[in-house]
Amino acid sequence: MRLVIASDHAGRRLKKAVYAYLKEQGHDVRDLGVPDEVERADYPDYAAQVAEAVTAGGCELGILVCGTGTGMALAANRVRGARAANCTDEFLARMARAHNNANILALGERTLGEGLALAIVEAFLNTPFEGGRHQDRLNKF
Ligand code: RB5
Repeated sequence: MRLVIASDHAGRRLKKAVYAYLKEQGHDVRDLGVPDEVERADYPDYAAQVAEAVTAGGCELGILVCGTGTGMALAANRVRGARAANCTDEFLARMARAHNNANILALGERTLGEGLALAIVEAFLNTPFEGGRHQDRLNKF
């Protein structure tokens, strides 16, 4: 899959682990930062970059990591066409794809262990959108 990923300073470590995992799985992943030398980064800047890459059609799905996942999801959802979901377990990740056709997964480095985060990523990437009545609902906003 063509994927794009980014984090702020608080999500950098988990972002790197997710990036390494995705590369190992053979995905084409674009890492938009935050660069190692940047000590403090504002999550809306990175959320916008990933949301724009996804909604422009260059990437199928995006992943954003901050401290909690909340700021990234809120900011990404300001971009038209972005549907970002902050998921803290695999069930939420599956439902975000199957029912909400989420195109961005937000994760929290301060709220998730690495093993759980990778399982959430797997669930998100491997669940297709079910369409039908769920598409009718998405058409309402
Ligand atoms: C940064 O301290 C933190 O506020 C940010 O990473 C994120 O958790 C915001 O939602």
